[in-house]
Amino acid sequence: MKTNRLSETIFAALNSQLTKEAHAAQIYLSLGTWADDKGYEGISNFLFRHANEERNHMMKFLEYILDRGAKPVIEPIPGPIEDPQNVQNCFNKVFEQEVENTTAIYKIVKLSLVEEDWATWNFLQWFVKEQIEEETLSLKLLDKIKIAGGEKATDEALQTLDKELEHTSDDLPSATNATQANP
Ligand code: FEO
Repeated sequence: MKTNRLSETIFAALNSQLTKEAHAAQIYLSLGTWADDKGYEGISNFLFRHANEERNHMMKFLEYILDRGAKPVIEPIPGPIEDPQNVQNCFNKVFEQEVENTTAIYKIVKLSLVEEDWATWNFLQWFVKEQIEEETLSLKLLDKIKIAGGEKATDEALQTLDKELEHTSDDLPSATNATQANP
């Protein structure tokens, strides 16, 4: 009896997204490492916390694939991106990463619609909402650096921003607290 409830196409898309979320965690880890090395411990702390969020996203895909009777394939994770040139560039990279991820999620939503896989469509709605929050968060970061002076921000302005981010909540509900029943 066939117990796998995912089509080959949907499975491949979900599995690829699982790897993308792991890649996102690596990207945030590398950006956080860059920030810490440059002395921005607050920014680094913020980015490291976000790396954990991405890993939680990865786990949500992994668990969903298992729940639907398929076996996820754990693939190699692509390498992280190049170090940013400055804080503004770092926050640009965060925004670009999130928009790219939103595009990837939307593609699977569309696929689930075409295949009338309503379970997957429903599962993905948590991520559609999450991506709105993640894009908003990254836009807020861009606003903050803009106010601090952008690429011309002084050391003093960057230090203030760094301190602020150390204690800034992600403003996002933790993925670990969300379940399929209570997204
Ligand atoms: Fe998993 Fe930042 O999206």
